[in-house]
Amino acid sequence: MGFDVPLIREARPEDAPLLAAAERAIASVPGKLASMPDEIVDDDLRKKIVELDDRCGGIYLVAEHAGTVVGHAFLEPLSLAATSHVVRLMIAVHEGHQRQGVGRALMNSLLRWARSNPRVEKVELQVRSSNEPAIALYRSLGFVEEGRKTRRLKIGPNEYLDDVYMALWVGP
Ligand SMILES: CC(C)(COP(=O)(O)OP(=O)(O)OC[C@H]1O[C@@H](n2cnc3c(N)ncnc32)[C@H](O)[C@@H]1OP(=O)(O)O)[C@@H](O)C(=O)NCCC(=O)NCCS
Repeated sequence: MGFDVPLIREARPEDAPLLAAAERAIASVPGKLASMPDEIVDDDLRKKIVELDDRCGGIYLVAEHAGTVVGHAFLEPLSLAATSHVVRLMIAVHEGHQRQGVGRALMNSLLRWARSNPRVEKVELQVRSSNEPAIALYRSLGFVEEGRKTRRLKIGPNEYLDDVYMALWVGP
């Protein structure tokens, strides 16, 4: 679409405060993330970055534009032996940088990694039913809806959203 291709690199523990601040900014815009800003904690992100590496069967990436971090995303393996072929996906493109190809670039990098990793066979994610941009991105990459939990997110008094479960098979 004519946008500069972002640089995608692995996240480093020292990125955590910036990524957490960006997530809090996204979470303060209604309808984007399920978490509330005060539920996003720098140290939780730092631990996740440290934990997710090739050895554990996961990956944590950031996207940069001209030296500025503009998005992040990860794949996290599920913990049981019987579910260890499955990774859970999370993605956040930072406010002011959305709709410029960053999300697609992060997704393509994650999926390339998943497809080249023989331990990974299925990529799963959860998305709120109102998040049309995210659902459109996931569908365009082949993710399908596997089901939904109705009224799982309470966003106000008597106001609920469904949680949509989507997945992509990347195994043989
Ligand atoms: C959803 C999100 C990851 C998309 O990333 P992005 O960088 O904004 O999107 P891109 O520019 O890479 O666009 C990729 C595709 O996403 C879809 N899309 C993105 N923004 C859209 C919008 N406002 N309306 C409809 N579709 C949209 C389109 O399918 C688009 O493909 P196209 O450009 O060929 O039409 C990003 O907006 C984001 O992080 N939002 C806030 C946090 C969030 O919702 N995370 C996901 C939680 S499950």
